[in-house]
Amino acid sequence: MRTIAVVQAKGGVGKSTISVHLATGLASLGRASLLVDLDPACASSRHLSVRPAPAKPDLWAVLAGRAEPHEALLEVPGVEHLGVLAAPPEVTVSTGVGWGPFRLRVALASLKRRDVCWVVVDTAPGGSRATQRALSAADEALVIVEPGWLGESMIDEQLRQIDQVRISFNPSLRVLGVVPNRVPATADGMESVARLHERYGELILPAVRESGRIAAAAAAGAPVTRCDPDSDGARDVSVLVGAILDRLHEGQDDDPPQRRWRSCQRMFQTSQKPHPAANRKQIIAKPG
Ligand SMILES: Nc1ncnc2c1ncn2[C@@H]1O[C@H](COP(=O)(O)OP(=O)(O)OP(=O)(O)O)[C@@H](O)[C@H]1O
Ligand SMILES: [Mg+2]
Repeated sequence: MRTIAVVQAKGGVGKSTISVHLATGLASLGRASLLVDLDPACASSRHLSVRPAPAKPDLWAVLAGRAEPHEALLEVPGVEHLGVLAAPPEVTVSTGVGWGPFRLRVALASLKRRDVCWVVVDTAPGGSRATQRALSAADEALVIVEPGWLGESMIDEQLRQIDQVRISFNPSLRVLGVVPNRVPATADGMESVARLHERYGELILPAVRESGRIAAAAAAGAPVTRCDPDSDGARDVSVLVGAILDRLHEGQDDDPPQRRWRSCQRMFQTSQKPHPAANRKQIIAKPG
C-alpha cells in the first residue's frame, strides 16, 4: 500500500481537484483505492458526489479511535474500486485537534490488511497540524503549486514542512513531485512553468492547464475524465496521473536509504541555485 498526501499551505491551488483525479485514476487500474478527505470543506467528497451516510461512523470517529476505517468507507457513485473516508463539514478534523499524531497511520495500516493498494489524502490549506499528521502517515508528498509569484514563493516553505516531518516523524517520506496546476495558456503561464523547471528540475510533474471543463466537472460532481473525457482538462489530468504512476514504480535499483537520507538533509542550504531536491533521483525510495 502506498499513501500519497496532497499538500500546499496556500488555499485554492487545486489540492482537492488533483486528489480526486489521482484517486480515480489509480482506482481505474483495478486495485482497491482510498481517498481520505481531510479538507473541512469536503471539496473532494463533493467533487465525487459522495455524501455522508448518517447511519455510518465517519472519518472523525475513525481518528478518535471509535470506529474501524472499513466501517466508515463511503462508496463513490460511478467509480469502482474507490472508497472515501470523510467527516461532515461541521467536524473540524482538519485542525488535528482531538486525534493523536499517529491515528491516521494506524487507521491506514488496518486497511492495508484489507488489500487497499493506494491511498490519497487531500489536506486542508494553512499547513495545519492535520497536514503534518497526514505527512506523518504518508509515503509520498505531492505538492501543488499555482503559477505566479505568491504560489511559487510558497514551494520552499512547503518542502521545508515536509523535510521537518521527515526528520521528526517519518524518515521514509519522500517528495513525489510538484504539480503546476491552473496554468494559464498564456506566455506568463509558460514562463512560470519554465521557471519552476529551472529551479526544481525533475521534481516538476506535467502541468495541468486552467480549464473551464475541470471547474465544470467539480460543479457537476464527477471527475473531468468521466464528464468530458475528450477535453484538454481530461487529457492533462490523465498525463499527470500517468507520470505519477511512473514515479511510484521507479527507484527499484536506486540509492540505499542512508545516502537518500543524507541528501535530504542537504536540502534547503541555498536559495539561489537550483533547489537541491531538483535531482529527484537522490531522494527516491525503494517502493514499499
Ligand atoms: N486546472 C484547473 N482549471 C480550472 N479550475 C480549476 C483547476 N484546478 C482547480 N480548479 C478549481 O479551482 C477551485 C479550487 O480548487 P480546489 O478546491 O481543488 O483547491 P484546493 O487547493 O483544494 O482549495 P483549498 O485550499 O480551499 O482546499 C475549484 O473551484 C476547482 O474547481
Ligand atoms: Mg481542498
